Amino acid sequence: METFEIKVAGKPIRARSGETVIHALWNAGMPELIKTGCVGGVCGACTVTVRSPNGKINGTDLACMCPVEEGMEVFPCSVDAVPTIASEPNPSADKLRVAYPTLDRCTKCGSCTASCPMSIPVMDSVLRMRSDQLNEVADDFTTCINCGLCRFVCEDGVLPHVMGMWVRRSIGSSRESAKNNTLEVASEQIELEWKYLLDGDSTLRMKHAQQFRENGEIES
Ligand code: SF4
Ligand code: SF4
Ligand code: FES
Repeated sequence: METFEIKVAGKPIRARSGETVIHALWNAGMPELIKTGCVGGVCGACTVTVRSPNGKINGTDLACMCPVEEGMEVFPCSVDAVPTIASEPNPSADKLRVAYPTLDRCTKCGSCTASCPMSIPVMDSVLRMRSDQLNEVADDFTTCINCGLCRFVCEDGVLPHVMGMWVRRSIGSSRESAKNNTLEVASEQIELEWKYLLDGDSTLRMKHAQQFRENGEIES
């Protein structure tokens, strides 16, 4: 099959049309150039920035989901973890501000939304956090894979997904059923939550995520 050149971290690699950047690296015997985990677009390990053959920066992507294009350049961009801040029962915008004073730094540039491989309306959600619409924020971040790209591109250090996850954890830990769950019951529900998270129907997926947040249970 015909091959063409791409560059990863400055190194030339021969790639084949139709494969992803990660598979091109594996086929070239250089898997170490980009960190990988699931290779299925759900763990957020393989974050990269991409420059098109015409020299234009194409933005951020997941290398395991990014198809190769002749002449493209790919740069690994690992996103470091940030320390976890404990969730708060009955969260509010004021409590969120105490945990993350960065909330009010947002200048509405929109870069976070453009960077998100899961098409989450990140900037809009930051604005919802400010106006105390936290149930909607929890919905927004239902499909977040914690890749950190929205944080990586934010020049104002707002930490959008970190706040979104704090909101989700805080709402979840406020449920009475969350306090009373035995490990056995919780693991059954977690199995079901996984089943629905992997469901291809996004409306159904959202419905079950909301149901789980509201009462800690998902109908089978
Ligand atoms: S990238 Fe940062 S400053 Fe820009 S909209 Fe997103 S959170 Fe706000
Ligand atoms: S919201 Fe941020 S951390 Fe979550 S998937 Fe989108 S870019 Fe990644
Ligand atoms: S390796 Fe998990 S998202 Fe790419």
